[in-house]
Amino acid sequence: MKISVFGCGYLGAVHAACLTHLGHEVVGVDVVQEHVDALARGRAPFYEPGLPEILEEALASGRLTFTTDASAAADARVHFICVGTPQTPGDNAADLQYVNSAIDTLLPMLKPGDVIAGKSTVPVGTAALLADRVAAVQPTAEVVWNPEFLREGLAVQDTLHPDRIVYGMRTSDTAAAAVAVLDEVYAAPLADGTPRIVGDLATAEMVKVAANAFLATKISFINAMSELCDVAGADVTLLADAIGLDKRIGRQFLNAGVGFGGGCLPKDIRAFMSRAAELGVAQELRFLQEVDAVNMRRRVRMVELAREACGGSLTGRRVAVLGAAFKPLSDDIRDSPALSISAQMQLQGALVKVTDPHAIDNARKKWPDLDYVATAEEAVVGAEVVLLLTEWEDYVTLDPAALAGLVEAPYIIDGRNCLDPERWRAAGWRYRAIGRS
Ligand code: UGA
Repeated sequence: MKISVFGCGYLGAVHAACLTHLGHEVVGVDVVQEHVDALARGRAPFYEPGLPEILEEALASGRLTFTTDASAAADARVHFICVGTPQTPGDNAADLQYVNSAIDTLLPMLKPGDVIAGKSTVPVGTAALLADRVAAVQPTAEVVWNPEFLREGLAVQDTLHPDRIVYGMRTSDTAAAAVAVLDEVYAAPLADGTPRIVGDLATAEMVKVAANAFLATKISFINAMSELCDVAGADVTLLADAIGLDKRIGRQFLNAGVGFGGGCLPKDIRAFMSRAAELGVAQELRFLQEVDAVNMRRRVRMVELAREACGGSLTGRRVAVLGAAFKPLSDDIRDSPALSISAQMQLQGALVKVTDPHAIDNARKKWPDLDYVATAEEAVVGAEVVLLLTEWEDYVTLDPAALAGLVEAPYIIDGRNCLDPERWRAAGWRYRAIGRS
């Protein structure tokens, strides 16, 4: 099937390559010439494991192209909207300018029976407005909301083997045809038995934000527990293991530490609260304010621990930070706890050296004043305290004995509760983590 993908960022680039892998003919459209050029040469403009390989394979098939010329989408049957919906500066609401501009671009080229499949995360009610605009121009074209649940770092796997596929649409004469078209797009994962849920537009939009809100709540829950563990002398990791064995709770997303960041969870819970307020039900999502606040306090707490480690003041102290990305297997530094903690320590006078296997270039653009080095070993030389803030496998498996010989003082703060305290203590380190007193 001929498919267009509007927006070739983390979501769209992976989606375009994966749809080609599934046998379709795909054109990826983006407004950033540099990204389009890189993708067309088989270079992903960001780090995503597995993407270079699938991109190369897709380009070699001759069925995948990237362009800034939107008219290349004119003969596509399905148009996926994969543009970003960032937080509006100074406001909690989502900024919908890229979604609106993608629809503006598409409207004049829509043909009867075309399907516009929205993947971007949007406030509930957005798709209905877009559907009205599309219906006024091309009544038999269908707007379907088809949210995306991929995780950065696992994006290729999540796209090819999703947990579920959701379609939301209006009840119309053309709805069944649109379902059939999307079923053809997703024929391979559907044949693998992926559950498919069909509902209305509003539900489909909400499935995405509700899922992210739930995940954020789960993380903040365990992080709140970690504070309790600290004062009560309990161990949050053991607690998470024990409550996670309850199948109704589950162990995933119960890793306590510096909290959630990235381009999705933080802005999605804020946009959700903002939309709830517009709909007159602000009270119902007020708990998300606390979820957000618990999360932001993790960063403050980490800085406090570092200050304590340095004897009460960070001024002039040498601090090593392992990790800059908001999570491992990604070079995404949007709202990264690691960098916000690093910047805060630097503001308080610390000499901070940051390292990351993949995110240094991005980090340097956003926070140019921090000192970046290529390896963990370089970062820790002469350090008076080491903070592990992104749990890259390379850092989790570091040899504490070898590292102890490089630092000024063997003091490690495990911001992700991912190290074995006994192993580090046995190698002469003082080990601290929140919730593992
Ligand atoms: C998240 C959702 O997991 C995806 O399902 C969704 O599609 C995506 O947002 C999106 O909206 O596009 P992602 O932002 O890639 O995916 O990352 P997650 O794996 O959810 O991690 C988010 C943050 O939570 C990271 O900073 C991670 O370190 C943190 N986290 C995660 C914890 O602090 N503790 C945990 O137990 C799990």
